[in-house]
Amino acid sequence: LSKYKWGIIGPGSIANQFAEALITSENGELHGVASRSFERGEAFAKQHQARVVYDNYQALADDSAIDIIYIATPHSHHFGVAKMCLQAGKNVLMEKPLTVNAAQTEQLIALSEEYKVVFQEALWSRFMPCFVQVKRWIEERQIGEVQYITSQIGFAFGGDPKHRLLNPNLAGGAILDLGVYSVSLSQFLLSEYPDSVSAMGCINQYNVDDNTFVNMRYPSGVFSQFTCTIAAQCSNEMSVHGKTGSIIIPAFFWNGGKAILKKEGQPDQYLDFPHQVNGFEYQIEGTMDCVKKGALCSDVMNHQDSHNVMQTLDEIRRQIGLKFNDEIESLD
Ligand SMILES: NC(=O)c1ccc[n+]([C@@H]2O[C@H](COP(=O)([O-])OP(=O)(O)OC[C@H]3O[C@@H](n4cnc5c(N)ncnc54)[C@H](OP(=O)(O)O)[C@@H]3O)[C@@H](O)[C@H]2O)c1
Repeated sequence: LSKYKWGIIGPGSIANQFAEALITSENGELHGVASRSFERGEAFAKQHQARVVYDNYQALADDSAIDIIYIATPHSHHFGVAKMCLQAGKNVLMEKPLTVNAAQTEQLIALSEEYKVVFQEALWSRFMPCFVQVKRWIEERQIGEVQYITSQIGFAFGGDPKHRLLNPNLAGGAILDLGVYSVSLSQFLLSEYPDSVSAMGCINQYNVDDNTFVNMRYPSGVFSQFTCTIAAQCSNEMSVHGKTGSIIIPAFFWNGGKAILKKEGQPDQYLDFPHQVNGFEYQIEGTMDCVKKGALCSDVMNHQDSHNVMQTLDEIRRQIGLKFNDEIESLD
């Protein structure tokens, strides 16, 4: 049986981890890589056994041998690159946050429907067994009626002012890069969309958000509260609190390595979820499964959910005053 042929656009830091997982797949293989620099593309291809290298992204989108493209550029470039790939009739798996704003996501979903190709957000945690188990515990009412979720995500990121996290022209800052996990995983665990959002944040000297604090209320009355930061060390833990117990997902929660169920009057239940490779394998298989079934996206991270996450992020950005330049916010 032939394997699905993948292409990678933007062979940077996360694309390396993605390629390490792909090489172990029985159903897919890395066919091509596209970089803005042929040398960078060639080095990546050599390391991860890709057959072809392109020095521009359009050429990879036009390669008829490729079935699925993984897009791992900075978020500022997600929309334009995904548009190009979908219009070339390619299935797409794209890194989080899906786009810079909800209007861009809407347009890409419309293209996925028009060209009948997969358009999948790579919010990898949602594909992991850990989060499936935690969701099951909540649905089984193991902790009684859920009252609230709380999470912290981030790092004291000193570093290079040219790094994408500190660059507003690459849609830097904490909320889009890190806060997206708290928004998306709360939505996943509660199976609800927030009906009210209240956010405060501080914008640093680079004009991106350093620390952002958010409260989200859901129609059932449950709350999710989170802090995301690129300026402080934090717990990187998520916990779900109910009337008769709680669930802890220890650091680094979005990696889905462990979950602890704590119930009143009972011993704690610890579960370990060692990854088969590095955690990227689940979304890789999930995306190929969509292609095989002819689905446009996976049930665990569907288009409506991705769109709602982007609407929530738009509202948080509006409240904290985080605006990017017209070029990266645009629909062109
Ligand atoms: N799932 C996860 O755990 C996870 C973790 C980290 C990041 N991410 C997401 O993955 C995406 C990439 O993050 P990363 O940390 O891998 O980024 P990165 O290493 O800084 O950049 C990725 C690649 O994008 C390409 N690129 C295209 N236009 C660019 C521009 N104007 N400036 C800089 N690079 C540009 C570059 O490749 P060429 O120049 O060679 O084409 C670069 O190597 C982000 O959206 C991020 O949110 C996900």
